[in-house]
Amino acid sequence: MLPGAMPLAGHLWQILRDPLLFFERQHRHVGVAVVRVGTKPLHLVTRPDLVRQLLNDPVTFDKGGIFIEGVRSLAGNGVATCPTADHKVQRPILQPAFHHRRIVEYSKVMEECADTLARSWSDAQQLEMVRTMHRLAAEVVTRTLFSGPGAAHAAQEIQRLFPPMLAGLYRRMFIPAAWVHKVPLPINIAFDTALSGIHRIIRREIRTYRADGRDRGDLLSAMMHATDENTGATLTDTELKEQVISMLMTAIETTGSAAAWLLHSLAENPDAEGAVLEELRRTVGDRQLNAQDLGNLPVFRRVLTEVLRLYPPFWLLSRVTTRPATIGGYRIPAHADVVFSLYCLHRDPKAFPSPHRFDPDRWLPDRVTAEQKQAQMPFGVGTRKCIGDVYGLTEVPLIVATVLRHWRLRHATDVTVTPLVKGTMRPNSLPMVVTRRTAAFVY
Ligand code: HEM
Repeated sequence: MLPGAMPLAGHLWQILRDPLLFFERQHRHVGVAVVRVGTKPLHLVTRPDLVRQLLNDPVTFDKGGIFIEGVRSLAGNGVATCPTADHKVQRPILQPAFHHRRIVEYSKVMEECADTLARSWSDAQQLEMVRTMHRLAAEVVTRTLFSGPGAAHAAQEIQRLFPPMLAGLYRRMFIPAAWVHKVPLPINIAFDTALSGIHRIIRREIRTYRADGRDRGDLLSAMMHATDENTGATLTDTELKEQVISMLMTAIETTGSAAAWLLHSLAENPDAEGAVLEELRRTVGDRQLNAQDLGNLPVFRRVLTEVLRLYPPFWLLSRVTTRPATIGGYRIPAHADVVFSLYCLHRDPKAFPSPHRFDPDRWLPDRVTAEQKQAQMPFGVGTRKCIGDVYGLTEVPLIVATVLRHWRLRHATDVTVTPLVKGTMRPNSLPMVVTRRTAAFVY
């Protein structure tokens, strides 16, 4: 047991005060450390090889634990939260919705949303980029999910309802006492209203899609028409709704935060920004950038990889043991919470020299090391690896490149941008001023 635990709260106050610092300190210790949230012990795995070992054994280390339980009871048993037994059935049904062919279709929505946003700005305007990127991410995922007649309205509603819903889910992760969330306080009422509003929108969309049965080429159509290879079964309305919630919960925060971090990092590192722009100019020229171009932009890819190293949106993940397990010689009982921090793994000095430094060139083919590759896992590992990895790796650079093409972004004031930990890790605040690029800069 680590020092500093209080009788009933455990390490809760230290975690709530500065979660990143708390977990980084624990990483100095051993392969597995025990942290207490209230009276609940969490087994924190601090070595990348051990994290990979547990992620590759989803039967022993099932999805669950502190970050999932509270979410599952509210958001349902979709692919992101369900236990391994259900996941074996759900994931193959959903996988075709993320086929390359589908991503190319979704990328047209991504391009269009980013282009509309970039065209809506005016010279010298100041914008809060965290909010802007999260709203854009909500619009993109809603419009790739739903492209029917109600899509634009659904996107607006999700943009409005998602932040209070997420804030409530986060509170439920760290404050497991259910009664606290039932007290009719404004924050609890806002959460209940947001959650029921989101459920209502999804039910309405599913009803519309069922009525005409068409495949509209979007994510909801893909999920609705997908079948279980073995049984031929399709998803019921309730299952579909849970999958849509899974997608919203995983897609918006991650891509919104990654895009905001990318804009921040490029503004802070004008050399890297210049190299990205030069590569875009050389490779894409004057025409509209599209998803196919992304494979030909190695400089941009290294910058993005480095941003996802420094700022992995899912900074802390959890599992629960279904039976006693031994990991790195350390024994963990059955039904125990196991956690690991991608943020800390990605900043381990043993894998990444000068770990806090932004250095995209550490990903150059002749510099990248085996330790680095082992420690880097922004999309997770194993059977629960992100199903939207290609989607995210298409959306984030498409958005940022589209914005950069028109605008030069710089931090508005002397704000210190630091990570803010909610469900995911995002910049605390990112006010930026946009300056229209002169013709010479537009590629
Ligand atoms: C930069 C963007 C993204 C990052 C860094 C990211 C990261 C992750 C990580 C780390 C996991 C694994 C969680 C665990 O092991 O417990 C995950 C799972 C998942 N992600 Fe993503 N994600 C991103 C974008 C997306 C997008 C755009 C979607 C959907 C459109 C998505 C859908 C999912 C789903 C459904 C899961 C659960 C997969 C499963 O359990 O089979 N993600 N993501």
